[in-house]
Amino acid sequence: MSIGLLYERSENDENGIKLTAEQLGIDLTFIPFRKIAITIGKNLLNVASKGKNFTEVLKDIKVVLNRAQSKNRRVYAAHTLEVLGKKVINSSTIEFTCYSKFRTLVELWALGLSIPKTTYVPCDPFDKTKDGRVIHNELDIADLLQQEIGTEVVIKPDAGTHGKGIVLSKNRQTLLGNIQKTEPSIINPVGIVAQELIQKWFYDLRIIVFKEKGKQPVCHPIALARAGFADFRTNTFLGNLVFDAKLPFHIQKLAVKCGETLSKNHDAWVFALDAMVNVGENKQVDDEIVKAELQKAAETFAVVTKIKKDETRLRDFKVWNSKLETAFKNYMSTEPYAKIKSIIEENVQINQANIVFHEANSCPEFWEQTRLVAGINVAVPLLKGAQSLL
Ligand SMILES: Nc1ncnc2c1ncn2[C@@H]1O[C@H](COP(=O)(O)OP(=O)(O)OP(=O)(O)O)[C@@H](O)[C@H]1O
Ligand SMILES: [Mg+2]
Repeated sequence: MSIGLLYERSENDENGIKLTAEQLGIDLTFIPFRKIAITIGKNLLNVASKGKNFTEVLKDIKVVLNRAQSKNRRVYAAHTLEVLGKKVINSSTIEFTCYSKFRTLVELWALGLSIPKTTYVPCDPFDKTKDGRVIHNELDIADLLQQEIGTEVVIKPDAGTHGKGIVLSKNRQTLLGNIQKTEPSIINPVGIVAQELIQKWFYDLRIIVFKEKGKQPVCHPIALARAGFADFRTNTFLGNLVFDAKLPFHIQKLAVKCGETLSKNHDAWVFALDAMVNVGENKQVDDEIVKAELQKAAETFAVVTKIKKDETRLRDFKVWNSKLETAFKNYMSTEPYAKIKSIIEENVQINQANIVFHEANSCPEFWEQTRLVAGINVAVPLLKGAQSLL
């Protein structure tokens, strides 16, 4: 019985999983999940691409690492494989929850975990009647959001990623405009999800929690802090930088609780939790000092960015990977890096009671930043988690 690695396209993370499996001496069987036909009928199951049949291959697989990038494909894959008797990391129930930010938050809230105040209005800005008229709901939605959240409102697609479609409204007029722009789509199936604006400072945190069967859940003690003033969204492709930040024990314990809650007692799982610290005015240095240091740190980070885009990764992953490791090492050994890192760590320490968890990523990117900055190769808990289920 073996472990399957399912994906649409082999990107850095999947190449990283393969490389790690090779180092750990674990055999992996590839399962494509894009240009493939999965056919069911009376006494029939056939799984085949145009050139290859995977039905027999699938029979020997007991555990599958689900790396389908699209959330929808991931839910399909997890559910179908479970019906076929496989164990999947992460399970289909986990995928169902993590697919939706609101579903995730409801579960964390039910356990008393700290989340941003969040409102879901199950109504789209426009409805079309059968006779072609348009009914406008945006005024009612705006009233509801202002009534529940106030004037500063963050609207986000319920199933979005990479900060896409996340908008901040600071007054009613912008709020109305932002509601009008919200269209039902695959990343925002029904209605509006909105949040209070968390008064974070210039960073937020990505925290890795995982569990293997038969072992206690673990929170990796170092978070990936995404930092910058470029945008209220701290995503790196919006011009922000990354730092490692030691987590206070209190936050580690909360993160483990989040993992346990969302995993619903499954034996093996991996999450990347997104969290913000509601710092308010509790900042120990001036913004201007932070900005100046960030600017200096950005100079060496530019080298990292260049290598990330380097196409050699497609031809020779190992060579590209060692270039990437060197670039990150250089970036992390600079003085501005050390200064920002210690500012973040101190700030997290003094504001640890004000942490809020706002998302759980069930199939996180990790090979570049999380591995090299936060110091955890997520491929290891994935593979060991899979092994523990064999
Ligand atoms: N309520 C909020 N208050 C303040 N900032 C927020 C809020 N919600 C999101 N942000 C900022 O926007 C960023 C992206 O938010 P979120 O994680 O919800 O979206 P995403 O599309 O899943 O992004 P990613 O894929 O990078 O995780 C957060 O890291 C945070 O910095
Ligand atoms: Mg997120």
